This record gives sequence, C-alpha cells and structure tokens, in this order.
Amino acid sequence: MESHRLLVANWKMNLRPSEEINFVKKHYDRLVNLAKQSNTQIVLCPTFLSIMSIAKNISSNSTNTYLSIGAQDCSTRAIGSFTGQISAACLAEIGCTHVIVGHSEERRAHKESNLQVAHKTIQLLIHGLTPIVCIGESASEKQTSRSKEVLSTQIKTVIDTLNKLSSARRYNLCIAYEPLYAIGSGNVPTTEHLEEIFGHIMRELRNAPSIKNITYLYGGSVNSRQLPMLKKVSKIQGYLVGNASLSFQEMEKMLTSWMVSRSNCISRAEK
Ligand code: 13P
Repeated sequence: MESHRLLVANWKMNLRPSEEINFVKKHYDRLVNLAKQSNTQIVLCPTFLSIMSIAKNISSNSTNTYLSIGAQDCSTRAIGSFTGQISAACLAEIGCTHVIVGHSEERRAHKESNLQVAHKTIQLLIHGLTPIVCIGESASEKQTSRSKEVLSTQIKTVIDTLNKLSSARRYNLCIAYEPLYAIGSGNVPTTEHLEEIFGHIMRELRNAPSIKNITYLYGGSVNSRQLPMLKKVSKIQGYLVGNASLSFQEMEKMLTSWMVSRSNCISRAEK
C-alpha cells in the first residue's frame, strides 16, 4: 500500500464477543471498501475474546490488506507462570498485527509504569507486532506547563529499552498522543497545541534506535465532528478512536471525509 492513514478502533470493554463478531460480519465488505477508497488501514482492537474469530474472518479474505486486528494490551513477560496474562507470542499466533500499550486507563487502573510499557513494547517488537504506544499528560500537568516534560519521560524510557534490541532488525512503531483530559470528554486540544506537541514528540524520537518507521497518531474524542479541525494538523498520520469507533455510521463518516480530502488533494496536484 502506498502512504496511507491509520484508523485504530479501540473498542475497550464496551461490547460482548457476539456483538464484536457481528459488527465485523455485518460491516466487513463496506469497511474494506471504504478503507480502500480512502487509502486507510483500519485496525480493529476488540476484547481478547473476539480476536481469534475476527482474525479468521479477516484472513479468509486474501485480497484484504486494509483491515487488520489488534489487541488492547499484552504482558511484559515472554512466557511462564503469570496468571491471567496474555503474551505477545500468543497474540502474534492468533493473527494480531498491532497491540495498544500504555493506555492511560491501564496506567491509571493498574499503576502501569513507563518501564512496564517499555517491556511490553520490546515483547511486541521481538514477536513482529507493531506496538501502539500511548503517551499523554493530565489536565493539571498541562495547566502547569509540564506537558513536554511528561511526554519526554514517557518516550525516553521506551527509547532506552529499545537500545537493548538487536540493531540488525528494523522495527515499526506507532506513537499515540492521547491527552488524558481529551479522552471521553468530547473536547480536543487546539491545533496549535497539537502542532507543538507532535513537533516535540517527533524531535524526541528522531534518534530512536532500530526503528524503521514511526506512525504518529492522535487519540481523545476523535469523531466525525472533530475531524475537520484535527485534519489541519499536518503531523498527525492517523487516529486512535474510542467511543466513535463503536458506531459504524461514525466510522463511515470519518472514512468518507478522508475520501473527499484525498480527491481534493489529487485535483489540486493536477491543476
Ligand atoms: P474516546 O475516543 O472515546 O475519547 O477514547 C479515546 C481512547 O482512549 C482511545 O484509546
């Protein structure tokens, strides 16, 4: 696929397996068509329980390279007696391509540290999966002008750990900037804040070892109403979407709006 956008649907714990599987069965053809027409790669991240069924559905269609499946978390450990955990190797075996790590809900609920996020990232890279590493500051950190400092610390721990990987292999990574105050609030930061923050994140990752390709995502109240504003931020290459991704109509509107902007681009270039 030529250069494309990424749309990651984080369904969190909102649907039951039957609902997740039905969503994909019902909308599969239309989703793949919309993804093709808008040159978007869609990654669906359902609960762990549905991954296997959905992955089979997706892989049975060999012409589909636009729709893939991801998980919402993984273990820091490779294998062993870790009750309740799921390893990167298991996720790779059942057909995942991407895995979200360091989501603020996980950092908050389970006191997940930057080092644990880095260990999960390593596990995923070793097993050929693309980590979607979430970073973001809280409202009070933003108010006290600490956004960049917090993000730098989150990024530095991951980079330091990546130094331990073999430099012979080159890895893919997604970084999702999800400010905590934007998640589920209906509000997104200003374009000026986003331009500045993404510039900062990109500078911090400029010398990341062993990373071939970094895709920069924004997450936090992304929906079809916010997209026209978000699309103005040139550094954003895709979105990590929560609530809006539970609605097929919202997904359709977002993907359709990219088709419109894509055709605008082409006609401008042809003039
Ligand atoms: P919302 O899109 O519901 O704000 O959630 C964002 C998010 O947490 C995605 O990971």
